[in-house]
Amino acid sequence: MQEPINGFEMYYEDSGGAGLPLLLIHGFPLNGRMWAPQVAHLRDRYRVIVPDLRGHGRSEAVHGPYLMDLLAQDLNALLDRLQVDEPVVVAGLSMGGYITFAFYRQFASRVRAVILAATRAGEDAQAGKENRAKTAQKAEEQGAAAVVADMLPKMMAPVTYERKPDLVAQAQDIMLETSREGVIGASLGMKERPDSKPTLEKMSVPGLILHGADDQLMPPGEAESMHAALAGSDLHILPEAGHLLNLEQADLFNQQVGRFLSGLERR
Ligand code: MLT
Repeated sequence: MQEPINGFEMYYEDSGGAGLPLLLIHGFPLNGRMWAPQVAHLRDRYRVIVPDLRGHGRSEAVHGPYLMDLLAQDLNALLDRLQVDEPVVVAGLSMGGYITFAFYRQFASRVRAVILAATRAGEDAQAGKENRAKTAQKAEEQGAAAVVADMLPKMMAPVTYERKPDLVAQAQDIMLETSREGVIGASLGMKERPDSKPTLEKMSVPGLILHGADDQLMPPGEAESMHAALAGSDLHILPEAGHLLNLEQADLFNQQVGRFLSGLERR
């Protein structure tokens, strides 16, 4: 469904079950469709809310930059719109993780627990910031598809490209739904994101950290550092999985998420 949220037309799905609410935040340059295996697994038991961030998927392609704080405010406005009063489990993959930190900084009382997948707490180093600017420029000059073509070979584990070509094609389709404005806005927004290590150290909610052993974009060491900083968190490194581990190892991913959520319900 698409409706005006925080000044733009946001597409979201709310699979409206009665259980604990979950907010699934996609990565870049992706959209809520990347969470299909998780929605299918969780929707009978939980209320699963899956937005497309501004400029991504079926949401409106507004101009950026999309600061992580702004994207978190969009999601807060969505929860208001949906009248979700109880704290939610916020799950973010990669850029979705950066937004989870920004959400926690601004709206901690709305967070029941966090799931951090294929992400990292640190800000970009200088070279990384320069690359963000180059990505935005490339999208400006050549369109979003040129950036997708650069990124696609790094999004998954080498073994996924060999053995699961249909999954690679599916990821490519999803990535190609990102608008030029979305690629520019998100790249410039990620470039400006602050260091979230202090946020992680102060978090007082349960956390599950999941990472692919063969993530070509972020080494598993990032997940280990987050695990050390987030008191009481669980960490699982999934084998034969890259940056899109929730698709590449959907069953293992769902198992860990299911176990974590059942544990939360027992607390
Ligand atoms: C993502 O998957 O969201 C991006 O790889 C994050 C990033 O570029 O830092």
